[in-house]
Amino acid sequence: MGKLLLAPMDGLVDDILRDVLTRVGAYDLAVSEFIRVSGSLLPARSFHRSCPELTRGSRTDAGTPVVVQLLGSDPACLAENAAQLVELAPAGIDLNFGCPAPTVNRHGGGATLLADPEQLFRIAAAVRRAIPPAIPFTAKMRLGVDGTATTLDCARALEAAGVVSLVVHARTRAEAYRPPAHWEWVARIRDVVQLPVVANGEVWTTDDHARCCAVSGSQDVMVGRGAVADPFLARRIRALAAGQSVAADRSLDWRRLLPLLASYWQQVCAKVSARQAPGRLKLWLAALRRTHGEADALFLAVRSLCEVDQVSRVLVQHGVPLQSSAS
Ligand SMILES: Cc1cc2nc3c(=O)[nH]c(=O)nc-3n(C[C@H](O)[C@H](O)[C@H](O)COP(=O)(O)O)c2cc1C
Repeated sequence: MGKLLLAPMDGLVDDILRDVLTRVGAYDLAVSEFIRVSGSLLPARSFHRSCPELTRGSRTDAGTPVVVQLLGSDPACLAENAAQLVELAPAGIDLNFGCPAPTVNRHGGGATLLADPEQLFRIAAAVRRAIPPAIPFTAKMRLGVDGTATTLDCARALEAAGVVSLVVHARTRAEAYRPPAHWEWVARIRDVVQLPVVANGEVWTTDDHARCCAVSGSQDVMVGRGAVADPFLARRIRALAAGQSVAADRSLDWRRLLPLLASYWQQVCAKVSARQAPGRLKLWLAALRRTHGEADALFLAVRSLCEVDQVSRVLVQHGVPLQSSAS
């Protein structure tokens, strides 16, 4: 089978969730949340903040390589920052041409650039020159701003500029995160470029994965929200590809998830302030509710809690095996 990539998700997937999700196994690669580049040369600590894995060979503890994603609109500034990032030996450098956030788009970054394939080329070509061939240089794009008029030209521009593979989130900026994802457009892009194209958008189940591969013609798939909602999805996709039976046993999955929730919570408590920690757990639980009834019950039980100790007590009551320091 092809590759499975864990998508960048700013504000949802950080190094802790990357650690937990890649420990379950089955992801070939993860991409960090975007690092905004605007006007100045970022210090090493800015890269380390978004991608602490840089201090560990740019890999999660489970060994999954983590590519660092940059977002910006100024070719020279992005190139300078990419050169700085190269010094930290990332597993790869990715450019974001998909972010729909108004704050990012107002400064000409993210998905707005898809209206101007020539500027896309200038940016990617400048960054290409700053990165040695040994470090994979990739890009992630949406189909366009409001429509698909520039989709193919954008993909061609990125290929001409020297990116070695391209993730396509198969929706326009205007479509935000609304289903469906237009996987057939990934196939159209594959028809006009030679480089490997990774399909992305709306893969929540093993069936979605199979249909995404069939429609897009791509064997390589990046999974975003589906990976957070169902940590065992990638493993089931792989098992299915290996011809094993994969009937989803949600209650078994939940029991397997409990130690991962414990690890997540303990790492969150060690990393972020006591005021922020409960919110982080609630974000993941809110995503897990989609696939696990038990997560729904747990989410409802912690929803109104703001104290770390209270949250820890409820986690233990719901079977999360916390070690004594966090319980
Ligand atoms: C909360 C959130 C944050 C995101 N942050 C990023 C980001 O930092 N960089 C990026 O390229 N895409 C980002 N994305 C887009 C995802 O990587 C992915 O392309 C999108 O969610 C579609 O895939 P999915 O339907 O499997 O979730 C984000 C998506 C979400 C939901």
